[in-house]
Amino acid sequence: MADAFDTTAMATETTLLNPRFYTTDFDEMDRIDVTPVRAEWDKLIAQMKSDPNRGHFKKNADWDTVDWQGMDPALRAEFIDFLVSSCTAEFSGCVLYKEMKRRGTNADICELFNYMARDEARHAGFINDALREAGVAVNLGFLTKAKKYTYFRPKFIYYATYLSEKIGYARYITIYRHLEAHPEQRFHPIFKWFREWCNDEFSHGEAFALLMRTDPKLTQSFANKLWIRFFLTAVYSTMWVRDHARVDFHNALGVDIDWYDQEVFRKTSIIARQVFPVELDIDHPRWLPGLRRMDQAMRDMDAAKRKGGIGGWIGHKTATLRAALAFAGLYLIPVKHMTPPADVRLEPSF
Ligand SMILES: [Fe+2]
Ligand SMILES: [Fe+2]
Repeated sequence: MADAFDTTAMATETTLLNPRFYTTDFDEMDRIDVTPVRAEWDKLIAQMKSDPNRGHFKKNADWDTVDWQGMDPALRAEFIDFLVSSCTAEFSGCVLYKEMKRRGTNADICELFNYMARDEARHAGFINDALREAGVAVNLGFLTKAKKYTYFRPKFIYYATYLSEKIGYARYITIYRHLEAHPEQRFHPIFKWFREWCNDEFSHGEAFALLMRTDPKLTQSFANKLWIRFFLTAVYSTMWVRDHARVDFHNALGVDIDWYDQEVFRKTSIIARQVFPVELDIDHPRWLPGLRRMDQAMRDMDAAKRKGGIGGWIGHKTATLRAALAFAGLYLIPVKHMTPPADVRLEPSF
């Protein structure tokens, strides 16, 4: 099986949909002063320092034997793709957080990023253990050197990373709750670990919420509200397209992808009211049709690329234009305006 899946190459590839590695202006981030949120900050850091999940990411008796060879090949391919993409996303966080910790001089920032890097290293390592059992572990050391890094200025890191942490929480807890009700659909033991796991992601998101609260301009200025709206649209629609490419995987879990994605958006949007002044209207009549149009355009882009030649080139250009228009359509759906509460901190409640 190892030959069929070059997971390191899969993880290294840069595409529109693959998780990326990020770099930023670490000096600017190092200058953040957490004084305005000191009381909440200290509480969060104390909780991270106590490391409630220290012993969690280890295989124990709950880790049943996995029949990789007996798994339906289509499901196996999609599940490996899911694990590789999750592992890359977790490791991407680890690399970014570790770099901030390494370069920083600000004691508050260094301490936070140290704990977050610790958690993400565990998460990535645990997924990679599951891949190793299938004989297809990702070479994470190689990935650090070979993968392309995307530069984001710090405020974009806050928006994107806050969202990806909270969406990560919502994704993990929604699958966990679903399998709690339908244990017969749990086709791999890793899902049993998702509850404690998602609490780590929740705390990471809390940290970014506090960081954004240190500077009101980040969430209140006119331009930044448009950026937040942009990131919400980009992150949600990317998730939609990525999930809809894994039909067998979601069938095996007994999860309807449309329902699952909307549920994750709903939870993420409720949580994000803690800090974002705008919320996407995911019940708007143009929302789902827009996502479907975007998904179809991305599939056509893919097919055209595979076809190649001049026909493929033209097909790719027109499909790209359609994807861009679908995205613009989603972006322009009127948003709901929110006033974030004075008290920013939340506890996981789903
Ligand atoms: Fe994580
Ligand atoms: Fe995280």
